[in-house]
Amino acid sequence: MGIKPRKVIIIGAGHVGSHVGSSLMMMNVVDELVFIDIDENKAQAHALDLYDSVSSLNENISVKVGGYEECADADVVVISAGTQPVPGKKRLQMFDETMEILQDIIPKLKNSGFNGIVVSISNPADIIADHLRKRLGLPDNHVFSTGTSLDSSRLKRVLSEKTGYNRNSIQAYCMGEHGDSSMVPFSHVYFGGKSYEDICRENPDTIGSISKEEIMEEVRQGGFKIVDGKSCTEFGIGLAACKIIKAILRDEKRVMPVSALLKGQYGHTGVSAGVPCVIGKDGIEEIIEISLTQEEKALFDHSCDVISQFIAKADKW
Ligand code: 2OP
Repeated sequence: MGIKPRKVIIIGAGHVGSHVGSSLMMMNVVDELVFIDIDENKAQAHALDLYDSVSSLNENISVKVGGYEECADADVVVISAGTQPVPGKKRLQMFDETMEILQDIIPKLKNSGFNGIVVSISNPADIIADHLRKRLGLPDNHVFSTGTSLDSSRLKRVLSEKTGYNRNSIQAYCMGEHGDSSMVPFSHVYFGGKSYEDICRENPDTIGSISKEEIMEEVRQGGFKIVDGKSCTEFGIGLAACKIIKAILRDEKRVMPVSALLKGQYGHTGVSAGVPCVIGKDGIEEIIEISLTQEEKALFDHSCDVISQFIAKADKW
């Protein structure tokens, strides 16, 4: 019996897709990488550029452009197709254009015989992943979005900058929408095992004086700040998606925030929202339900309402 190479397909070879590919290669997560894009020339260029980098890696990775038939034996398909972010444009305002693009992708992916796990990135992330899940007919836990994983990376950066603690010693994540209504359950933020609340109480003039709202707003604005400067974000999401794909391909059972279909958890059913999940070879293997304070629950509920309204719109397509 042969050992199957780890194969990942990236649909949408723009800034995001190419950086996911690059991260997968640098982190030794993939053996075969295939790009699919309607702009085949650009996809070819990214594939060739990345393939050149194999010579500098001590790995043997195949990188190429292909058709949907490549999906049949793939382990993971990444959906990063969509329109380029524009400064000032909200993620929810990208809904119509991304939905339009998806209508071409969905039947082709569905008919390809693909039976692996879809990690979707395209914005608005929670809604797009929900739509893909419904239309592809794959198991619920096999189609999900990177959700608030990127927001959570930004949260660790902001917390580290404001407190001086190394971000690897910080346990914290964002929940809800990957977008303007995302929220932080501060009651579950820990610095090396010590709760944020305790640290704030003991240091009222320093860390305790930082407003939670200010932290959340800085995290929410993180993406826009980058888009303002270069009309895309790519490195952060590239590695965030790579970490999720690594957890799948190595069956890590790692807890990370992704956008999962809620079935009663947190009091919601039928909404895909960012929550901590156990990620392994079966995709989302468990949704972790943490206790939220009343205030946190209200923020999370609001975020779910925002997502639900757009899911209702997507269902009409
Ligand atoms: C990001 O947050 C724009 O959704 C993209 O980087």
